Amino acid sequence: MSEPILQSIRDIESRAHAAIAVAVAIETLQAIERDVLGKTGQLSQILRGLKDLDDSGKKSVGQAGNVAKRALEAALSQRKSALESAVIAEALARDRIDPTEPAPRRHAGHEHPVKSVMRELEDLFESMGFTIVDGPEIETDYFNFEALNIPPNHPARDTQDTFYVEGGHVLRTHTSGLQVRAMRKYGAPLRVVSPGRVFRNETQDASHEHTFHQLEGLVVDEGISVAHLKAVLDELLERIFGERVATRLRPHHFPFVEPGLELDFQCRLCGGKGCATCKQTGWIELCGCGMVHPKVLAAGNVDPEKFSGFAFGLGIDRLTMMRHAISDIRWMMSGDLRFLRQF
Ligand code: PHE
Repeated sequence: MSEPILQSIRDIESRAHAAIAVAVAIETLQAIERDVLGKTGQLSQILRGLKDLDDSGKKSVGQAGNVAKRALEAALSQRKSALESAVIAEALARDRIDPTEPAPRRHAGHEHPVKSVMRELEDLFESMGFTIVDGPEIETDYFNFEALNIPPNHPARDTQDTFYVEGGHVLRTHTSGLQVRAMRKYGAPLRVVSPGRVFRNETQDASHEHTFHQLEGLVVDEGISVAHLKAVLDELLERIFGERVATRLRPHHFPFVEPGLELDFQCRLCGGKGCATCKQTGWIELCGCGMVHPKVLAAGNVDPEKFSGFAFGLGIDRLTMMRHAISDIRWMMSGDLRFLRQF
């Protein structure tokens, strides 16, 4: 008499097992649980009818019903945890972070154009046998001025006014302070360049900044002449522009060189005919230079009777401006991303 009920329990159970086995969502399992094991579920309804059965029917159906219920509960919870770990694994795979992946290009920083030119010049001079040396940006009054034959009341100080720091230090007005420092440290013969930041008390305009960059060059040896100076700077320009460039030397006063000179090169835009860039002269000024003054050699503990030398001070900002056709030096220190992102 209870056999048809037992059969329907087996049917319910096997259908439920089949549905659990193919379920791919937690919600599906919850629906199966509700339909079969819930208060009004199929199995619960059968068990509720137990009271109408005889004793042996109560026993066999009750037993079968409970066994089926426990088996289904176990199957549901097993399938549920399997689905949960699949969900976690999928999330992990989706959200994986690769810390070695490069940042998107637009967020990456890069070298400042002045720094690139500086590095290029360093490479050029290094290949010509120069050593690269570094000097302090906060320099003593002595190395910046006095050792370079610029005593306290010399008028040359007016053109290189700077920021004075307590204790006799100044923010260096040029890289020339390296001349005496290098001679004292390395002695003669000597071939060094020293790039770096320099500072002046300037009224700012399109061609004047309070902070800019120079590269100092110094060669000391026996028998050094202006011809060597010109040869090195001609070579430098040829390497920068990829072809021979006409240059000229003209006299200029710097207290620490004798003779003091300025080197110009022929304007690349007009070929020397005269244009706005070269202010109609046909020439563009490259650097101050000259033969190291005997007093400066002596300050560097180098014997002026035995050795001679030349020095030059290149303006790196100006070279960078010429390379990229930048018309205003104030862009250089601006930190303006609209400017910097163009390089
Ligand atoms: N120091 C000079 C300047 O800043 C340039 C210079 C360097 C001139 C070396 C002569 C020799 O203007």
